[in-house]
Amino acid sequence: MSWIHITGFDRLNGWGSVADADDRARHYCGQLEAGKILYFDRAPFELPADQCEFLLSRKQSGLPIFKNVSYRPHTDLLRGVAKDEPRNIARLHEIMRDFSRRVISFADRFLLPYAGRRQIDYASFRPVEEQKRDLPLHKRNDLVHIDSFHTRPTNGGRILRIFVNINPRQNRVWQVTEPFEPLAHKLANDAGLGKYAAGAHSPMHKLRRTFAPIFRTIGVRGIDRSAYDQFMLHFHDWLKESRDYQEKTAKERLEFPPYSAWMVYTDTVPHAVVSGQFALEQTLIVPIEAMVVPRVSPLRLLEAMCGTALAN
Ligand code: SIN
Ligand code: FE
Repeated sequence: MSWIHITGFDRLNGWGSVADADDRARHYCGQLEAGKILYFDRAPFELPADQCEFLLSRKQSGLPIFKNVSYRPHTDLLRGVAKDEPRNIARLHEIMRDFSRRVISFADRFLLPYAGRRQIDYASFRPVEEQKRDLPLHKRNDLVHIDSFHTRPTNGGRILRIFVNINPRQNRVWQVTEPFEPLAHKLANDAGLGKYAAGAHSPMHKLRRTFAPIFRTIGVRGIDRSAYDQFMLHFHDWLKESRDYQEKTAKERLEFPPYSAWMVYTDTVPHAVVSGQFALEQTLIVPIEAMVVPRVSPLRLLEAMCGTALAN
């Protein structure tokens, strides 16, 4: 089973006065790193009812008011908002800011070994029904994949995502497959790991990494993508393209009911969203040094497979 039901962690009191709270935090970080999904049947952070109602509100046409929206906590910027009245946009902005703060404060209490070391990435609001979305193949989230970001290479840092289903009536449905370690052993070489490993030490690669800061100042990004990030981006696309993998791999179906929340390293738990509408999500990037078991991180696993450093 790929998920663990967390009970006993209270939104206000955390683990209460239990003596082994630190051990539990370490234990759950280890479980996440091993490819488990931590599941809460009620979100362990506040979700004000008026804010949820606003996010669920619709136009007269029946369509949700907002498309997929992202929020960047560092710069306090909201992206992907369709044209709307300024007061609606301001309200959405305030809700996303609040949500992001609450989830981060929860994560810092629940995942103590990562607190102070994790980097805060974007939050998102997902109001579009996921079933039968008409998207280009590499953007389709109903195909099983691991996450990797085009615009934000992590250089070995881990992608930890915390989701909450705010749909009062409909479950959010995922499919997951076996985690990264067995998957990589079976498929990473077929997907071309050797080529990326060889490229990691080429003079061209070193040159690009050296000059990347200059390119960044003129808006060109991704030049300094490490061999690790290049491979992970490629593996994301490769898995989506592989009919064999999509059709033949054993899948587990997970149903996340209204107001439940879950957290998962989506760079190592292959996942697809089958259906569902209205979710909120916050991403954290956890550096490899903060891992409880760095050996099972995808960077270290891939390096062990190809015998060379991939993020230098
Ligand atoms: C994804 O990361 O593939 C999307 C998951 C979701 O929106 O439920
Ligand atoms: Fe994904």
